[in-house]
Amino acid sequence: MQYRWLFLVFSLAAITATPFVSRIRNPIAEPAFFNSTRVTILSWKPRVFLYKNFLSEEECDHLIKLAKSKLEESTVIDIDSGNNVKSEVRTSSGMFLDKRQDHIVASIERKISGWTFLPQENAENIQVLQYEATQKYEPHFDYFYDEKDQLRGGHRYATVLMYLSHVKEGGETVFPRAEGWKSQPKDETLSECASKGLAVKPVKGDAVLFYNLKPDAVPDPLSLHASCPVIQGKKWVATKWIRLGSFDTIPSAPSAVETEAEMYPESIIKDENSETVASVDESLEEQEL
Ligand SMILES: *[C@@H]1O[C@H](CO)[C@@H](O)[C@H](O)[C@H]1NC(C)=O
Repeated sequence: MQYRWLFLVFSLAAITATPFVSRIRNPIAEPAFFNSTRVTILSWKPRVFLYKNFLSEEECDHLIKLAKSKLEESTVIDIDSGNNVKSEVRTSSGMFLDKRQDHIVASIERKISGWTFLPQENAENIQVLQYEATQKYEPHFDYFYDEKDQLRGGHRYATVLMYLSHVKEGGETVFPRAEGWKSQPKDETLSECASKGLAVKPVKGDAVLFYNLKPDAVPDPLSLHASCPVIQGKKWVATKWIRLGSFDTIPSAPSAVETEAEMYPESIIKDENSETVASVDESLEEQEL
């Protein structure tokens, strides 16, 4: 009986709220439907999810078309300098689209937000990559090693990989440290490289979502992943990296300093002249009691 009343109240609330919601001209308030029946949990350690047919054929082809003439050799971030450098570890070529470049890109970005429950402003621009035969990306992490890369939005919290083409052979995404990967059934359609971890076969339209940080935002070493060498065919993939904070807010020099201060709260506590120090100390003392 009670449940029926609850349902009625909920329905009334929904009906009353609908006209207000639809009147708001905010892109974030637009419907971002995600079909949960197409999502499979591949792993909890690390957190990896597969969404079948996330993109339509047309959406895939459109992204490839936008990228095709603008590809450049991919780079990696040098651990020592934090600079982008070319490397044998990553041999694909790629380019970045503009955010909301056109209505199709905008709708894909909205769909990603709707699936990940993470705001669009935290997301980087979509990167489109092409891997030709023998090209690969050796096992790596998507989180950063140096602070410079984290100034704009912090760590890369989640990664969404969207497969834009069918690959005849190879090109799998593989997670060599995924818990229980050995129990994943393997067949002859997978390459040798894919037999060394939890493997996802690139299927046009499918998307994989994985988290580079644990739920408490600490980097997850189990999120190690690689792109297996393409053996036959061409692999096209679109990547969306989603940060912990806003990527759209470009830090100016002073706010970059603020961000650093936030990352190292002890440096605030050390400043004995500041008024905030007293309150920080007090609250620390209270916690200790
Ligand atoms: C969700 O996906 C399933 C499986 O592909 C499909 O049968 C169903 O019609 C979809 N639901 C909607 C509302 O699109």
